[in-house]
Amino acid sequence: MTTIALFASGSGSNTENIIQYFAGRPDVRFLVLCNKPEAVVLQRAARLQVPAVVFNRQDFYGSATVLGELVARSVDLIVLAGFLWLVPANLVKAYPHKIINIHPSLLPKFGGQGMYGNKVHQAVLAAGEAESGITIHYVDEQYDEGRIILQARCPVLPHDTADSLAARIHALEYAHYPLVIQQLIE
Ligand code: GRF
Repeated sequence: MTTIALFASGSGSNTENIIQYFAGRPDVRFLVLCNKPEAVVLQRAARLQVPAVVFNRQDFYGSATVLGELVARSVDLIVLAGFLWLVPANLVKAYPHKIINIHPSLLPKFGGQGMYGNKVHQAVLAAGEAESGITIHYVDEQYDEGRIILQARCPVLPHDTADSLAARIHALEYAHYPLVIQQLIE
C-alpha cells in the first residue's frame, strides 16, 4: 500500500485529478490536508470519499500535529497542489526527497513568495513572455527552489488573459502531475 498526502489550500482541481487518475489502483490511497476550512478542495475530498484533515498555523508551525498525522497514516509521499504555506523544516527533514510541488511557471522565472495563482500568469503576461509552463520539483525549505523533476511548456498567445493562460497551464498540470507521482511511487 502506498499512501499519498495531498496538501491544498483552495480549489483543489489538481488534487481531484490526481485522485481520479489513481482510481483503479486499490494499492494507492490518499489523505487530503488543508489549511482552510472553507476551501473547495474539502468538498471534493468528501465527494471522492477521501479522508481529509484541516489544520491551522499552530498545528503546522508550532507543534508536531501535522507530522503526527502523516506518520500515523504511514504517508509515503507528500504532494503539494496549490498549497500556499511554506513547508516547515520538521516536515522537510522527516520526508527527504518525498515532498513535491507543482508551480505554474517555468521556474526559476516567476517563482518565490507571493507568486501563486493568477499573480504568476499576470506577471508572465506583463513581462511579454512568448512561453510559459509548469515546473514539478522537490520541496526544500525555500519557496520554489528544490531540484526540478519536470518542466513542460506552452505558448503564451497574443490575446491571452491571466485566465486563458491559467486554463492552458492547468491542462499541462493535469496531464503531467499524476504521471510524475506514478513514477515516484513505483
Ligand atoms: C495550480 O496552478 C498550481 O500550479 C498552483 O496552484 C494552482 C492550484 O490549482 N500551485 P488547483 O487548486 O489544483 O485547482
